[in-house]
Formats: sequence, structure tokens, C-alpha cells
Amino acid sequence: MAMHKFEELLPRFEAYFNQRHFPLQPSTLYDPAEYFLGLGGKRVRPVMSLMGNELFDEILPDAFHLAAAVELFHNFTLMHDDIMDKAPLRRGKPTVHAAYGEATALLGGDVMLVVAYEYLNKIDVHYLKRIMHLFNRTAMEVCEGQQLDMDFEKAATVDLPAYIKMIELKTSVLLAASLQMGAILGGAGENNQHHLYEFGKNLGIAFQVQDDYLDAFGDPEKFGKQVGGDIMANKKTFLMIHALATSKGESKKELEHLLTTNGPDKVEKVLNIFRSCGIDAWAKDLKETYITKAMYHLEEIAVISSRKKPLTELAAYLVQREK
Ligand code: IPE
Ligand code: IPE
Ligand code: MG
Ligand code: MG
Ligand code: MG
Repeated sequence: MAMHKFEELLPRFEAYFNQRHFPLQPSTLYDPAEYFLGLGGKRVRPVMSLMGNELFDEILPDAFHLAAAVELFHNFTLMHDDIMDKAPLRRGKPTVHAAYGEATALLGGDVMLVVAYEYLNKIDVHYLKRIMHLFNRTAMEVCEGQQLDMDFEKAATVDLPAYIKMIELKTSVLLAASLQMGAILGGAGENNQHHLYEFGKNLGIAFQVQDDYLDAFGDPEKFGKQVGGDIMANKKTFLMIHALATSKGESKKELEHLLTTNGPDKVEKVLNIFRSCGIDAWAKDLKETYITKAMYHLEEIAVISSRKKPLTELAAYLVQREK
């Protein structure tokens, strides 16, 4: 049985997913939701569900239902996240709240979550209880992570372990669960599921580290989001945590002052302080630490190593991506 790379599974997911998901009326609610889904995105999580299934057995039709549910859930979190983060841009286009108002972005996110459950409900009852339980636990954790992310905006400092815990909750548990739910469909045993989840969790941490790096230093053309948005919102990303911990004297004072202001040159000034703190090497180290942990768990999975190649390639891509 041949294994498929991410790039091969992506068009299979897209072929299933790229259709209208919502009723026609009221169009003021459903068209913006369709607009957002139509902006695309990398589709990392749904393809990870297919990969989690295929690591253990041939891809079941249910894996596409699962993948659709996961992508809808992800898009629901993004629509609400963009309100929380006051983000004007996503995937190179105006965010829903910016284009249609906050009420529509809230409700559009809500209906995406409901439709996500409709897709889950298509899954064979033999798997559904286990998948639903993991999906729901993950959804709670994402909310917990998002709350911590908001709480940390107001905290003067946050230490690295607290940041890692926060990004584990808001981001990496969904990547981990996407893989594990796929593995459930593939008939994986508990131990293999555990190691696949831990692979996804550690990869997800490295993924969010890269997201935070790109938010500061990404190429605006490629990134598709407002560069510097995290700085404007006083997010305690690893960049800010590292800069607060290592800057000294005038530079530290300036950084602390910048966290209390919102002037037009705030982003540029904070970026200069980040640059003076050796942030690139620190980012690289941090990603490597978590990729190493991820690879350990991937190795522990009891399937022949050639089957793991697509996941190894995915890990390399996710930490080097430019968008
Ligand atoms: C963005 O996720 C939110 C994070 C958890 C960093 P992605 O970078 O996967 O967003 P899309 O779906 O590709 O736009
Ligand atoms: C988002 O983290 C995590 C979730 C949406 C749950 P970010 O706020 O960093 O994601 P982006 O950068 O807006 O995509
Ligand atoms: Mg956010
Ligand atoms: Mg955001
Ligand atoms: Mg971000």
C-alpha cells in the first residue's frame, strides 16, 4: 500500500471540501462564512487527519468527514481569533469582522462550529465516541489557550514555560488531535496513538514558534497577515519573552516603555530590539528543541519507517514555511 505525501493528499481533500457548506439565506450570514473558507489556507490540519489514518491503514471515506470537521473547526477559531486580535488581514484578504462587522464574524464562526459537528456526525459509530471525546477535549483546550493568550497581553512578563503551555493549548493540541483522530480511523493501538499525538503536539509548538516569528519578521507579501500585529497587541510571544529577559539598560527600559504605548513607530522600534537580542538563533534553537522531541515520538510508533516519511517531510516544511 503506497503512502502519500502532503502535496498529494491536499488536492484530494480540496476536491471533497471545496463546495458550499452553508444554506443560501440569510446571505448576510452565510456568504461571509463561505468567503472566509474560500480564501483557502494551507489546510494543514485536515491533511494531517488523512495522514494519521494512512499511517496505519488505507484512507477511509470517514477520514474526509473528519478532515472537513477539523478544517471547519480551525476556521471557526480563526474568525473569532481575528476579532480578539483586532487583525485586519488574513490569507492576504480583509478579515470577516473588518469586512462585515463583528456580529457577522461571531455568528459565522458559530455556524462553522455547528457544521463541523454535522461532519463529525457522519462518522461510523464504531469510531465516533472516541473521536468526539478527543475533538471536544481539544476544543476546550483551544479556548483555554486563547484565554491565556489574551491574559498574557496584559501581563508585564510571562516566562517561557507559561508561553509554551499557552501555545500548546491554543495551537498544538489541534494538530496533535487531527493526527490522532485520523489514527483512530486507521485502527491504531493506544500506544501508537499516544506517540502520534505527542509527535503532533511537539510539532505544533514548533509550528506556533514559526507563526510568532513570521508575525514579526515575515515578508508581508507572502505572510498574508498584518506583520507586527503581535507587537501592536503586546503579545507575549517567545520573541518578546526573550527580549524582555536578555535586553539590558536603555534598551530594556525602552522595550518596557514601548509595551505601554501604541505609537506609529512601535513595531519598528520593537523589531530593532528583537534584532539586537540574537532572536534568529534563539528561534532556530527553540524550533529544533521541539522538532527533536517530535521526531523521538515519531520513531516510537510501531510501523515500518518508510511509512513515516510524509510526516517527516511535513515537519520540515511547517517550521520553515514563509506563510
Ligand atoms: C493559523 O493557522 C493559526 C495558528 C494556529 C498559527 P494556519 O497557519 O494553519 O492558518 P491557515 O489555515 O493556513 O490560514
Ligand atoms: C491563533 O494564534 C491560535 C488560534 C486561532 C486558536 P494566533 O493569533 O497567533 O494565530 P494567527 O497568527 O492570528 O493566525
Ligand atoms: Mg490570537
Ligand atoms: Mg491571531
Ligand atoms: Mg500568529
